[in-house]
Amino acid sequence: MTDSVLYTRDGDLGIVTVNNPPVNALSQHVRLGLSECFATAAADDSIATILICAGRTFIAGADISEFDKPMGPPDFLETLAMIEDAAKPVVAAIHGTALGGGLETALCCHFRVAVPSARLGLPEVLLGLLPGAGGTQRLPRLIGPEAALDAITTGTPMNSAAAHAAGVVDAIVDEQGLLEGAKAFAREVVATGQPLTRVRDLNDKVSAVDPAIFVATRKKVAQTKRGFEAPLSCIACVEAACTLPFDEGMARERELFQGLRDSVQSAAQRHIFFAQRAATKVDDMPADTKPQRIERVAVLGAGTMGGGIAMNFANVGIPVIVLETEQALLDKGLGIVRDNYERTAKKGRLSSADVEQRMGLITGTLDYADLADADMVIEAVYENMAIKKEVFAKLDATTKAECILASNTSTLDVDEIASVTSRPDKVIGTHFFSPANVMKLLEIVRGAKTSHETLASTLAVTRKINKVGVVVGVCDGFVGNRMIHRYGSQASYLLEEGCLPHEVDAPIYDLGFAMGPLTMSDLAGLDVGWRIRQGKGLPASLPAGERYCEISDRICEMGRFGQKTGDGFYHYEPGDRNAHRDPSIEQLIVEYAREKGIERRQIPASEVIERLMYALINEGAWILEEGIAQRASDIDVIYVFGYGVPAFLGGPMFYADQVGLDTVYRRVCEFAEADPASWKPAPLLKRLAESGGTFN
Ligand code: CAA
Repeated sequence: MTDSVLYTRDGDLGIVTVNNPPVNALSQHVRLGLSECFATAAADDSIATILICAGRTFIAGADISEFDKPMGPPDFLETLAMIEDAAKPVVAAIHGTALGGGLETALCCHFRVAVPSARLGLPEVLLGLLPGAGGTQRLPRLIGPEAALDAITTGTPMNSAAAHAAGVVDAIVDEQGLLEGAKAFAREVVATGQPLTRVRDLNDKVSAVDPAIFVATRKKVAQTKRGFEAPLSCIACVEAACTLPFDEGMARERELFQGLRDSVQSAAQRHIFFAQRAATKVDDMPADTKPQRIERVAVLGAGTMGGGIAMNFANVGIPVIVLETEQALLDKGLGIVRDNYERTAKKGRLSSADVEQRMGLITGTLDYADLADADMVIEAVYENMAIKKEVFAKLDATTKAECILASNTSTLDVDEIASVTSRPDKVIGTHFFSPANVMKLLEIVRGAKTSHETLASTLAVTRKINKVGVVVGVCDGFVGNRMIHRYGSQASYLLEEGCLPHEVDAPIYDLGFAMGPLTMSDLAGLDVGWRIRQGKGLPASLPAGERYCEISDRICEMGRFGQKTGDGFYHYEPGDRNAHRDPSIEQLIVEYAREKGIERRQIPASEVIERLMYALINEGAWILEEGIAQRASDIDVIYVFGYGVPAFLGGPMFYADQVGLDTVYRRVCEFAEADPASWKPAPLLKRLAESGGTFN
């Protein structure tokens, strides 16, 4: 027997315990252990078997790191069939998270008991997969095809109470007494002679299916998961559960699972799963670095960013004090926060008591003295170095010595900001993305003097507020905006050279991005970049030989700042976010090119994709070369969680690996030859291309 699964006897009961830290994944040795232990249980004189897990969770699924390798024996489906076929009752005792293959194993047990804090789900779709161990065939039989479709296509887990109400869990047992509760349940089943439930044999719910649910779910998935293959395969499997005998449904599930497992989309989504976890690891941080406790937070500025940032803390129960310069601004900002919460409540996602509880955690002030208790202050004032320095000097003088001072800057030099304080070790950048209460990404900017403790504390609080944190270094724009700058420049050069706005955006949208670069600029507000460029004295201050396109400036000069003014690169009807082509802008572009003596040409969609994607990738390679990002996968996480790149592309650096770095490098060199001012091939890209390497 393997050490990771043990069979023991507890009187007349057999206990199978899985112990494979950290999450009891179904690694090959666990599958082997389960097969051996259940064979032993079947052969002895125990009256029932309990399947339970040691550590923090029930089985949290297949071992995701094994999907890239051939699956070794035993055949897991045979092991599951052995559990389901067992003549004696088998009870799954669930705590933590029963996910994926973990829940599928539990569904082969005849009964399931769980503690109140447990969560159960089939999140395979989030990895570009489908539940491949019978989940698509058993869950619809147990809870009905409609509820199963929802669970399987969204991957959202149920809490214990919901699972109990749906019939996934037979009994909820005391939080501290899972094994005792499971033993009592098993003995009761034996004593009362309760028949064993084999989910595969339950056919009532699937045979009564209304086929309209498949049409409706396909429609929903097309809107919410555009371009993702896995949700469609999940639907096909549930449909098979409703139309085919169990064994044939299982065969269909197997066939579609294998197709997804070998797909680039799933490889990309698995890459993002591990990348997201790697991003929080700081290579040079000693393992014993202790984060400070962050129990009270202050936010400077009640504008859109400040208000959104404050909500993140209130959402998880951390009191937050918001400082403004004027009462009217404070009232307006906190009013918007309340409106946001109330809108969520109207959609049924918060109760009115929740709204009040969260608002109760947010207080406003005009006085720096009220920040004296804060463990962390996040400054979200105007993006201007002089103002930020003034604010940090004040914060340094008014907050307690151990308070972390964070700047929500999107471009500015954190070291320069830190230099005006007496505690540069406590200064860090926290670059939230707008809307800050919604977007998952947080770029954590490590200054030259930021201490490990400050970094560890910021990482811990990032996790607490459910953000995806990525540690980056100081440079203009950090990782995300520095790369997007190159991408945006290429978008405007494409306009000069021959494209109209929709011809720049459509190929990128079709690739799977949430939107193209110009639609994104319209959404973000064209005035933001315009003011930054004005602040830098552009284009007058442009170094000789640099390329500059004035199209966006000219659009701003017309008072068109994008969606917020109803016009930008596109036209927007009131109350409608759809971008409409605008002949006046198309004419402006053509005339601009004529004025600059640029001969416009027909640019194929394939070149648009190359120019935009390779601009990101080449800049990403420079960022790696300079050590601004620790690893290529960090860049991928930033782009998936902050810039609308679909997880099925795996981020720009993963995408580059799929294209082949030799191809990317060759094209970058060709672009550089035609336009040396805007393309400088990154040495890292060259090295990897020449050595046959990859970023990830
Ligand atoms: N396989 C391999 N490693 C896994 C894993 C899995 N299923 N789940 C988690 N891990 C690893 C993580 O990579 C992480 O490793 P490092 O410490 O080296 O970074 C470690 O376990 C801890 O994970 P988290 O940091 O995510 O811990 P958490 O407590 O925040 O969350 C969790 C725990 C909710 C289980 C979360 O890890 C999770 O959602 N895991 C994935 C669950 C999943 O998708 N299961 C389905 C797998 S596919 C499947 O089962 C196919 C099938 O049909 C058979």
